Amino acid sequence: MLNNKKIIYSGMQPTGTPSLANYLGAIKNWVDLQDEDYCSIFAIVDLHALTIRHADGDLQRRVKSLYTLFLASGLDPEKSIIYCQSQVPAHAELAWILECYTYMGELSRMTQFKAKSQKNEDNINAGLFTYPVLMAADVLLYQTDLVPVGVDQLQHLELARDVAERFNGLYGNVFTVPEAYMGKIGAKVMSLQDPTKKMSKTESDNVNNVIYMLDEPDVITKKFKRALTDSENTVKFSESQPAVSNLLEIYSAASQTSISEAESFFDGKGYGFFKQAVAESVIELLKPVRERYADLSKNPDYVDALMKNGANRATELAGLTLAKAKESVGLLVL
Ligand code: TYM
Repeated sequence: MLNNKKIIYSGMQPTGTPSLANYLGAIKNWVDLQDEDYCSIFAIVDLHALTIRHADGDLQRRVKSLYTLFLASGLDPEKSIIYCQSQVPAHAELAWILECYTYMGELSRMTQFKAKSQKNEDNINAGLFTYPVLMAADVLLYQTDLVPVGVDQLQHLELARDVAERFNGLYGNVFTVPEAYMGKIGAKVMSLQDPTKKMSKTESDNVNNVIYMLDEPDVITKKFKRALTDSENTVKFSESQPAVSNLLEIYSAASQTSISEAESFFDGKGYGFFKQAVAESVIELLKPVRERYADLSKNPDYVDALMKNGANRATELAGLTLAKAKESVGLLVL
């Protein structure tokens, strides 16, 4: 806790193109939470992104673009600390310390490691394996109470909790043990063409699976028109209708209506009407973000200055926990 306020921490990789799933599952919740009684910290986790290869200059461009998108979405540097992970060296330092307190067996069980190794057979680097420890370091460095994430990050967060408890068991209360926070809706947005797969910003097979946050309205409409539905021709939230349920969930999150209100609204209406309404709700939701992004992009110096300030503030906070952890394991602290 900082000044008696609970600490919220979350991060996003600057890989792929941020999607509607990232917005509904993460960024939108972050924006809402920063207005409550929390101290919130949000990172662009570029060290995590080194587990895959990037063309020259690409990563720096993506970091700046994602920072701009965070601001455009309503993350407010007056209310939150918003920074880029690699500009705060404490992350890599604490990650190494924690790696020595994490077991190979634990890391081998991570489903994302298994999935990512299958996808990148020619580059299964050690970073991909130890990635969850770096994520634990991110969270633990700031004495985080709550971590707003989508369902896909829960296993990583569980590992962070285990490592924190193990470390505290040995050395006393060094780290706050964090808890996951998930929005009631939008924590697992699925692909528009295959509702068994999550919507992913690094999707490369078919762009029709994914709505990107900066997609133009006509592109959004087209993608929803092509979205898979079911054969039942009713708009109901049920396990037997995963594609329709996913669209209903998107509609509900985008238009701030409950699932049951949405079901009643679409009762007796066809899939054509339904998909058009989902598209419109998402266009409305993302329109202000796209407009602010365009404005902010004209002022890169402003964005750079905010990034620098965010990194300085994060460095100061992270240093406190890093010193505690170093002392605990018997390292000399300057
Ligand atoms: P990343 O960059 O893959 O995703 C960022 C956030 O978006 C959420 N998300 C989704 N939510 C709902 N439905 C989906 N289909 C969907 N896809 C992605 C993710 O759950 C996440 O909240 N390892 C993390 C980044 C990270 C991090 C951290 C997060 C590094 N350190 C510390 C929290 C705290 C990742 O790769 O997220």
